[in-house]
Amino acid sequence: MADLRSSLAGIRSPNPFWLASAPPTNSGYQVMRAFAAGWGGAVWKTLALEPIVNVTSRFGGYDVGATKMIGMNNIELITDRPLDVNLREIAECKAAYPDRAIVASLMTDCTRERWHELVHAVETVRVDGFELNFGCPHGMSERGMGSAVGQDPELIETVTRWVKEAAHVPVVVKLTPNITDVRYAARAAVRGGADAVSMINTINSLIGVDLDSWLPIPHVDGKSSHGGYCGPAVKPIALNMVGSCASDPQVGVPISGIGGVSTWRDAAEFFLMGATNVQVCTAVMHHGFRIVADMIDGLTNYLDARGIASVNDLIGKTVPRFVSWNDLNLDYQIVARIDPDACINCNRCYIACEDAAHQCIERPADPALKPVVDEEHCVGCNLCSMVCPIEDCIEMVRVDAGTTSHTWRERLSVPS
Ligand SMILES: Cc1cc2nc3c(=O)[nH]c(=O)nc-3n(C[C@H](O)[C@H](O)[C@H](O)COP(=O)(O)O)c2cc1C
Ligand code: SF4
Ligand code: SF4
Repeated sequence: MADLRSSLAGIRSPNPFWLASAPPTNSGYQVMRAFAAGWGGAVWKTLALEPIVNVTSRFGGYDVGATKMIGMNNIELITDRPLDVNLREIAECKAAYPDRAIVASLMTDCTRERWHELVHAVETVRVDGFELNFGCPHGMSERGMGSAVGQDPELIETVTRWVKEAAHVPVVVKLTPNITDVRYAARAAVRGGADAVSMINTINSLIGVDLDSWLPIPHVDGKSSHGGYCGPAVKPIALNMVGSCASDPQVGVPISGIGGVSTWRDAAEFFLMGATNVQVCTAVMHHGFRIVADMIDGLTNYLDARGIASVNDLIGKTVPRFVSWNDLNLDYQIVARIDPDACINCNRCYIACEDAAHQCIERPADPALKPVVDEEHCVGCNLCSMVCPIEDCIEMVRVDAGTTSHTWRERLSVPS
């Protein structure tokens, strides 16, 4: 059976599935139950020297059709429980589950003294690492913390250095996606001495407006504020950010992948794109701690079926294939081909190609006949196969000889 043991910059866990710092890691009661369910690690709900005050209400869900919570938005802040209570519960969890990773997420004001004070206070109990919350985009950022740090590479480097001066365990820097190019933030964390980076925290958002009351959602006594967006909808953004950092030689530290991970498949994609482990929040808020059992089974079966001995053998395997647009082969040509036996004549491909692609699906006059692709004019954009409701009905087929390659970089001699 495949080995799922994982180590993020020396923080070991029996599997690569961690809970992200969020409501599921708010208390010892929850983290104990999560560990009993099988989670390999937990990043505790962000700790501060003094508790903050939260608002009610604080979450909003984004449903698409019948699918609930494709995304969610929150205006919750960090922990609102006293530090000593959190620390006592961390110690209890560590004593009960010594093999699991417990990482303390930290946030405080931007002074060296305050960061040292927080690190010293938290190190009075055993934690396996620190995660610096430079990502929370609401509330704390307006007080100069969270993403206010994560959006400023100089501050990222400075604060990371302060923490490294004081810490005796590995330091992970959690990055905000609310930035133009996450690599600059990751490089700054590395310059400051980060042992690993994690990404992403939530994306600035407003989930919606109630069309009856005209109030923003969620509202607090008639007013709202921008919040943090997460859940399955953000996975592509997170995956791109993980991949861009994994392929950047100036980053070069392990990455903990966060953002929309709901299944073992999502996790495997993050590993292939360079993440050493994954952290999960929204999927647990939606379905509970029990989802980890399927994640462990699914990943184990996937690895076993391919004869892969360890989950670590997946890490970064797709990264060399994630290149600049300038390095894509312009000679590669595919076209769509419709299987008339599978087609149910719903016309979706025809409408998509006619209105939004290249007008190259022909609809025979006889309604009994199936649509046909004019392969000479098809540009192989994939749209028809994406809208087709029947699996494998439209195949994308390679039509170039596969013997030549030429890239935009070669064409224009673009420097790399
Ligand atoms: C309600 C809520 C509260 C959160 N609180 C924190 C927090 O205290 N510290 C932190 O670093 N991230 C916090 N996050 C962000 C998550 O840890 C995670 O980065 C984000 O939700 C993306 O993962 P997901 O798509 O699996 O939810 C919070 C997220 C939610 C939804
Ligand atoms: S791949 Fe694009 S261009 Fe080709 S038939 Fe489908 S929609 Fe039209
Ligand atoms: S979308 Fe698929 S099933 Fe519908 S007409 Fe086109 S090929 Fe046939």
